Amino acid sequence: MTRPVPTIAVLASGKGTNLQAILDAIANGELSATVSLVLSNNHGAPALDRARRAGVPTRVVEQPTVEILLKVLAEAQVELICLAGYLKILPPEVVRTYHNRIMNIHPALLPAFPGLHAVRQALTYGCRVTGVTVHFVDDGVDTGPIILQEAAPISPSDTEASLTKRLHEVEHRLYPEAIRRFIEGKLRVVGRKVLLK
Ligand code: GRF
Repeated sequence: MTRPVPTIAVLASGKGTNLQAILDAIANGELSATVSLVLSNNHGAPALDRARRAGVPTRVVEQPTVEILLKVLAEAQVELICLAGYLKILPPEVVRTYHNRIMNIHPALLPAFPGLHAVRQALTYGCRVTGVTVHFVDDGVDTGPIILQEAAPISPSDTEASLTKRLHEVEHRLYPEAIRRFIEGKLRVVGRKVLLK
């Protein structure tokens, strides 16, 4: 018997380059999954165009209440939720319903520089190394159990734009990799730790 293909919702407010990386990984067979929904709070998000081009259903919910979110996610029969530049905080009820089934990608080596403008924060701080973190979402801001991390160097000539570009290259590899491990059942969460099987 073949296993059913896991369904993913991607929540994005902006450009959607990480969404694109996920869609590309599915298209080229690296990831055996379906994106059944792209949800945004922003009508103008380029992420929505990327979803439409790939034939993925989209929803825009400007004021995402618990009821609407749970309804939309249930309708899409979502097994995993991937936040990819989603600028709204998920209500605790949604986090609880999808406990350890919501991932986020963050452009810093958490717990350093959580929240907004992480790339700028690392540059301003004078770090020589920063990186990317994929983690499960809990009730805090960028505080959930860490799935994968990868470091990236900062050079003295870096600007926010050049460093963001370097980190995006890492993100676009790391996110599909974390999702692949999840859907292959190779992640086990024990307290704060994610064991990679
Ligand atoms: C990425 O840098 C991600 O780490 C952060 O938001 C950004 C989204 O970029 N959470 P994109 O919309 O996927 O291009």
